[in-house]
Amino acid sequence: MAETAPKSGPLFDTFSRAPLRFERGEGVWLITESGERYLDFGAGVAVTSVGHSHPHMVESLKAQVEKVWHLSNLYEVAGQEVLAKRLTDATFADKVFFTNSGAEALECAIKTARRYQYTHGHPEKFRIITFEGAFHGRTLATIAAGGQAKYLEGFGPKVEGFDQVPFGDLEALKAAIVPETAALLIEPIQGEGGIRVVQPEFLRTLRALCEEHGLLLIFDEVQTGVGRTGKFFAHERSGVTPDIMAVAKGIGGGFPFGACLATAEAASGMTAGSHGTTYGGNPLAMAAGNAVLDIILADGFIEHVRDVALIFRQGLASLKDRYPDVIEEIRGEGLLLGIKARVPSGDLLQAMRAEHLLGVPAGDNVIRLLPPLVVTAEEARDGLARIEKAAEALTTKLAKSA
Ligand SMILES: Cc1ncc(COP(=O)(O)O)c(C=O)c1O
Repeated sequence: MAETAPKSGPLFDTFSRAPLRFERGEGVWLITESGERYLDFGAGVAVTSVGHSHPHMVESLKAQVEKVWHLSNLYEVAGQEVLAKRLTDATFADKVFFTNSGAEALECAIKTARRYQYTHGHPEKFRIITFEGAFHGRTLATIAAGGQAKYLEGFGPKVEGFDQVPFGDLEALKAAIVPETAALLIEPIQGEGGIRVVQPEFLRTLRALCEEHGLLLIFDEVQTGVGRTGKFFAHERSGVTPDIMAVAKGIGGGFPFGACLATAEAASGMTAGSHGTTYGGNPLAMAAGNAVLDIILADGFIEHVRDVALIFRQGLASLKDRYPDVIEEIRGEGLLLGIKARVPSGDLLQAMRAEHLLGVPAGDNVIRLLPPLVVTAEEARDGLARIEKAAEALTTKLAKSA
């Protein structure tokens, strides 16, 4: 193949990275190679749920490292059984399949729904309805599910079987349900899409539609799950449960793994040999997941998330009132928060970075604030003070250019 692009280093050019090199992390802090400290309210995109280098995580992983790292799924993995029991005891689910990532948890969820219909006399039902603004991952099936043109472009024909309707549009949804529809797939709060909260009433309507039409309800709680919203899982606030749920990010606290949870009925098509993974559920991942749950399911922890979230919420609301030219709206639940900016969100993110505070960009001109769930009230106030300085700097800049 002829060389057309200039050489740009050995890594794929898929990411445009900020020029920051972190050497270590402590709790909610990241420390650069040169010793500068940054308040990490991005948490590696909602992953480091219990902060960096949490002593219990370090101890649990060290203990596992000294025993065995990997076994494959040819043998029983004790940590899988323990973690699956804890997840099923604490949720709607009866069954768990462990994966390596969020996208694979979604792939498993999609396959589980299709297989359910196939093995229950409906091989024609394979289509899945999703919502505009969704993000479900970067595999070929999950970019088709997410339906965003920017992620689909140039990757050949879109994987068949995904129909998308506008966010929150009930009539469009009803019209999209056809005899081939197998399932509905939704994030209870759209993360990448700009921290767009789905109203509990809408989730209840989805549940009712699934009952009426023989569909499975799939929740993507990859970003919203594991305590992030002040509930163990975000859907709990709606009072309805899904048939299948994809989980990842916070469950591993930084160790890459995910899980597909399902009721026994929904998982009944996933018979021996129908699905598999080499690494999924390996002993190191399970040690990480069990250690995360030791912390998150401990008495009072989720209440702590709600308490600190309140401080954030009030602080951000006050900043919105004081800097209306910079902040348009505050969104989200618990510690899954979004600042919709009036200036380009990249400018606000950069101004925050200048104050040594890290956030994560999202769609709809939003910056996500996703601090580790162990963040203290004092650290929350420190973060708010840094956002204030960033907003102040941008306001001054706007005044100068007016
Ligand atoms: C809601 C949601 N689903 C799925 C994914 C994909 O997860 P992963 O990047 O681990 O494949 C993400 C990742 O950002 C996500 O936010």
